[in-house]
Amino acid sequence: MDVKTIKKVAVIGSGAMGSGIAEVHIVNGYSVTMVDVNEEFLNNATGKIKKNLEFLVSKNKMSQEAANEALAKLTTMVNPGAAIKDADCIIEAVPELMDIKKNIFKIVSDSSSKDAIIASNTSSLSISELAQSVSEPSRFAGFHFFNPVNRMRLVEVIYGEKTSDTTINTLMDLGTKLGKVAIKVLRDRPGFIVNRINAPLQILWSAVLDEGTITPDSIDTLMKDNGAKMGPFELMDFVGLDVIYNVMQYYEKTLSPQWKPGRFITERMKKNELGMKTGKGIYVWQGGKAMIDTSHKTDIIKPVDPLAVQLNEAIRVLKEKVARSAEDIDRGQEAGMNQPGPFKTAASIDHNLISQRLQWLSAAYNLSYINPEPEILDGSFKSMIQA
Ligand SMILES: NC(=O)c1ccc[n+]([C@@H]2O[C@H](COP(=O)([O-])OP(=O)(O)OC[C@H]3O[C@@H](n4cnc5c(N)ncnc54)[C@H](O)[C@@H]3O)[C@@H](O)[C@H]2O)c1
Repeated sequence: MDVKTIKKVAVIGSGAMGSGIAEVHIVNGYSVTMVDVNEEFLNNATGKIKKNLEFLVSKNKMSQEAANEALAKLTTMVNPGAAIKDADCIIEAVPELMDIKKNIFKIVSDSSSKDAIIASNTSSLSISELAQSVSEPSRFAGFHFFNPVNRMRLVEVIYGEKTSDTTINTLMDLGTKLGKVAIKVLRDRPGFIVNRINAPLQILWSAVLDEGTITPDSIDTLMKDNGAKMGPFELMDFVGLDVIYNVMQYYEKTLSPQWKPGRFITERMKKNELGMKTGKGIYVWQGGKAMIDTSHKTDIIKPVDPLAVQLNEAIRVLKEKVARSAEDIDRGQEAGMNQPGPFKTAASIDHNLISQRLQWLSAAYNLSYINPEPEILDGSFKSMIQA
């Protein structure tokens, strides 16, 4: 199927991601049917989309006519069978549970047209395993948007073992038509590209909390002084320590036992001190703000450390042939995380400094996982990027 033949899209699940995915499609001229388990969820999702478009109109970023036209392209349905019958592309965004998704894909596969593309927005489940529930896995792929979908520019297009090049190329074109930076994920590996390269920071920060010598406040203050919008610990509290805990457990099972959630995070989980949403986590939160003591910044952790850890994992992602190129990884990090690409940024830094920092962190926190890759030790990672 060519992207030009995609006119009607069905989005299954109208939560945080599904409503955003529906929004970016209607805004770009696609007819969308949004599906959920009841009318209330669908009404909430439609209300959220309307509000987002009204905001764009109020800021003169969209005309009232364009907003009306987009909204006229949105329909909602509780019965998925009818919604997917004549869709050219079906995108699933229901909760991250293998069984729920597999059931949906079975229904989708049985009732959709024989040419339709079927995609999942999963951030962690295996695309190849999900594809086992459809009759034609060559038309099945991952289509991974970032939250919030209307603002984050990245979409990862992920191959399962049996996905055809045509399916991937059509989704790449669709992503581009939606105004996104679309990058190919060549292999269905945990975390795909962008989440994967950022993941090892979680084991580092978890180990720092457990070791206890350096306060999170002093690290967050250092990182903010060096241009970060939020410090890493503030961000963990903002996302939710339960989310971080679950993600770490997932990587513990799929990548390395060193991802086992640390004592500090596990204790907070037990006490239901999950960060911003419970008013307490690593920090106490008041009025939507973390109470951070900014009176001093650490000189033990260095501003270059997060970049060193990201770069190390990015090199692995490249060597495992998950990403096509260092440029794709950089573009992904920029569009998905609003952070500079690790290859581009590290190109102007002495590789010995990056090696030394990784060796120091790995020894200080007993984390062999972040030992530097050979391409950092000898500086050859700099030739992995062309631009
Ligand atoms: N939230 C994020 O930051 C994020 C980012 C990228 C990817 N994802 C992935 O996107 C997917 C959805 O996440 P979310 O945060 O939007 O979840 P959510 O809980 O906000 O929304 C899920 C929606 O699916 C609906 N649903 C449940 N069962 C259904 C069914 N049988 N048929 C139709 N609808 C059904 C729910 O009622 C709910 O409205 C997950 O796979 C998640 O891993 C999430």
